Amino acid sequence: MSSEELFTAAKAAMERAYAPYSRFPVGAALRCDNGQIHAGCNIENASYPEGWCAETTALGHMVMAGGKRVSEVAVVAEKMPKIMPCGGCRQRLSEFVTADAKLHLCDVNGVIETVSFASVFPRAFDMEPGA
Ligand code: THU
Repeated sequence: MSSEELFTAAKAAMERAYAPYSRFPVGAALRCDNGQIHAGCNIENASYPEGWCAETTALGHMVMAGGKRVSEVAVVAEKMPKIMPCGGCRQRLSEFVTADAKLHLCDVNGVIETVSFASVFPRAFDMEPGA
């Protein structure tokens, strides 16, 4: 299963972004350890702090589909090559990622760098450390 497939899902999600305030569309896609892909876009709100990120939408789709563990994440933003998940989304993702989860950094043409999730979010807050 290729990272390109995950990128394609993230990019398609970005096309659905509701970002009339920032004009900064973002798409994210997660691959579960069962192989399923779940994607999401950012969804903004006139009350600015009530909007949320693409990664958060994707996590909601995953949980509702019964997904448990995330083994790969791809994020894309047309205005920012190699966009990184924000700190809040790293914490949300950390709840579900496998120990060896990968993060694919993209531009609009595809994956341009792959890093481990652990390298970008070490020592996450965790109510059950070591569990
Ligand atoms: N955004 C995301 O969707 N994911 C991130 O990881 C960073 C930021 C969104 C939130 C907001 O709608 C827009 O990008 C500008 O901050």
